[in-house]
Amino acid sequence: MTLTAVSPAVSPAGTTTGTTTVALRHHRARPWRLCSLPVVGSELAAPSLSAARANASGPLDGGRATGGLQKHHDPAPDEFRHEPVLLGQVLSLLETVPDGVLVDATLGGGGHAAAALSARPGLELVGIDRDPAALVAARARLAAFGGRARTYHARFDALGDVLAADRARPGGPADPPPVVAVLFDLGVSSPQLDRPERGFSYRADGPLDMRMDPSAGPTASELLDRLDEAAFTALLVEHGEARFARRIARAVLAARPLGTTGALAEVVASAVPAAARRRGHPARRVFQALRVAVNDELGALTPALDAALEALAPGGRCVVLSYHSGEDRIVKERFRRAATGGCMCPPGLPCVCGAVPTVRLLHRGARKATEAEATEQPRARSARLRAVERLVEPGTRP
Ligand SMILES: C[S@@+](CC[C@H](N)C(=O)[O-])C[C@H]1O[C@@H](n2cnc3c(N)ncnc32)[C@H](O)[C@@H]1O
Repeated sequence: MTLTAVSPAVSPAGTTTGTTTVALRHHRARPWRLCSLPVVGSELAAPSLSAARANASGPLDGGRATGGLQKHHDPAPDEFRHEPVLLGQVLSLLETVPDGVLVDATLGGGGHAAAALSARPGLELVGIDRDPAALVAARARLAAFGGRARTYHARFDALGDVLAADRARPGGPADPPPVVAVLFDLGVSSPQLDRPERGFSYRADGPLDMRMDPSAGPTASELLDRLDEAAFTALLVEHGEARFARRIARAVLAARPLGTTGALAEVVASAVPAAARRRGHPARRVFQALRVAVNDELGALTPALDAALEALAPGGRCVVLSYHSGEDRIVKERFRRAATGGCMCPPGLPCVCGAVPTVRLLHRGARKATEAEATEQPRARSARLRAVERLVEPGTRP
């Protein structure tokens, strides 16, 4: 399966110049992973990673365009409201990077990106999102920056391919500027959660969908049809629903087919004891677990972080905001690995294994929101911010 994307191109003058559909099969596309859980029935389709680029004039993969021009329902940009999280902390981390390209790998509505471009006139933006609705909103918000802001429809683990396409874009400079920052603001945006028709919310009834990219992969409803009890239980446990995982899994799978968020929320609520229902909606964790699996959120993260660190120029920074422990664990591990070069020598003794650190951690542990930030933006309360800087000389300290 090859995904196609519709990308209203933003010209260097900042005007919308047309709609181009280009399909790119990502050569490193991996089979769809469900957090390593077994799947009953046929293998789920492998998602191919597509990147439609602004001003694209032809296929990105040397001639394998599979899509023609397509019509998507593009929501009006003003329907899209997402307040950027920990904006002050993110901007202060970007303050000292050299001039060059900022990659926003989770562009969303473009809140972080617009603020960074305003604060740093020497930055240009390569913005990536897998959600076409987010791209519509971001393009409208970033139009004032003209050719400084270029947007791509892709999964962020295609970051290397997106950068290659951006460098090769028609009219681009022969000597493209270096990548000096990569930002990941993980998870879902407020509009994804708030719009019932996207199927992410247990609070409002809608189709049981949950796909960030509505053109790719199975919906949550289809995924449930393919999971067995052991696999679904393991998925729930992995996402913090330890106590009632098995009974929820059994009840949900017995109630299939489940076509709506309301039906799923109801089955989950009836599967847990009344006392447990008083401690918040029991469907919250179930919905989060399904969402992460439907979008292969954890599977895409490791290759995306590695690609980001590899793309960074010396002195460039990678900043990641994560919102649940599964994400943060991966970020911590990849950053630590890059900061130690994977060195396994005993602490306190000189390194003899030849490991070559490529980054330095910008602070110990994850930063959290201050009370003021959390009050102003409730989503910030669960945010964990980690950041690294690419070393000038790999293996040395600046
Ligand atoms: C929290 S929102 C980002 C909001 C953004 N920082 C802003 O200020 O508007 C996360 C965005 O990342 C996108 N996203 C999540 N996982 C992705 C992935 N693997 N590849 C590309 N985009 C992804 C979602 O579609 C969503 O729009």
